[in-house]
Amino acid sequence: MTNPSPTLPLSHSPTLRLGTLYALGLGPGDPELITLKALRILRRAPTLLVPVRRATDPGYAWRIAEPHLEPGAQRVLRLPFPQGMGDPELDEQWERHCAPILEALAAGDAAFLTEGDPLLYSTFIQVAARLRGLAPGLAIEVVPGVSSITAAAAVAGQPLVARGGRLAVLPAVYSPDDLRRTLRDFETVVLLKVNRVLDRIVPLLEELGLADSALLVERVGRPEQRLVRGLRAFAGPVDYFSLIIVSRPEAK
Ligand SMILES: C[S@@+](CC[C@H](N)C(=O)[O-])C[C@H]1O[C@@H](n2cnc3c(N)ncnc32)[C@H](O)[C@@H]1O
Repeated sequence: MTNPSPTLPLSHSPTLRLGTLYALGLGPGDPELITLKALRILRRAPTLLVPVRRATDPGYAWRIAEPHLEPGAQRVLRLPFPQGMGDPELDEQWERHCAPILEALAAGDAAFLTEGDPLLYSTFIQVAARLRGLAPGLAIEVVPGVSSITAAAAVAGQPLVARGGRLAVLPAVYSPDDLRRTLRDFETVVLLKVNRVLDRIVPLLEELGLADSALLVERVGRPEQRLVRGLRAFAGPVDYFSLIIVSRPEAK
């Protein structure tokens, strides 16, 4: 089924002024790992745009933001973005959300909440690209956040890379050959979105002799945070908010 294009009278009205769209990086989950700048904008933006995975899900970024907000003081617009990157339906979903976002911006500033950093594998990237196409003059300001990657290294007390070491970051859309090559070529490899491919990653780490030095961090910064050191025979299950850091033992 194809969805109708979003109705966008806004994009045809060059005289209509839009507010600024802020992309707020809220950090990985610990409410204290929000920058002062993100906190100031979070509390002041008239509209908060909250990506959620399901209609019933409060949203990971929302959970980080909520303790800092006065209930009911701001308009909260929840935008469902189901998992499934590259899926054409997801493209349509992104486009559908542009109309309400532009409507919110016609009334003033709006802040799009992101967990971690907004420019690192965030839904915001696709939304911003579409919004720029529809409203080319739109002012977008990105407030960087503490990424889950650096937060995970911190809780593990483990350097990501040092001296001339090279770091690779891969989401779970690689072939086993890509992963094998990357694990050989880089001193440290961070794997994101591992929950659905753990059964392929662990045997490969075992085969390459990297399972004992790998670590998994789930929901870093949240009360339910979990750290697993050594992934030999590790079978999960793990949450979507989990990543794996693989360091070659000689690189540490
Ligand atoms: C769409 S990416 C977003 C990354 C995020 N923008 C960042 O800067 O951390 C989602 C993936 O990041 C990782 N991730 C995000 N937050 C996490 C957390 N709190 N703990 C562990 N991994 C996390 C997981 O691998 C998850 O599947």
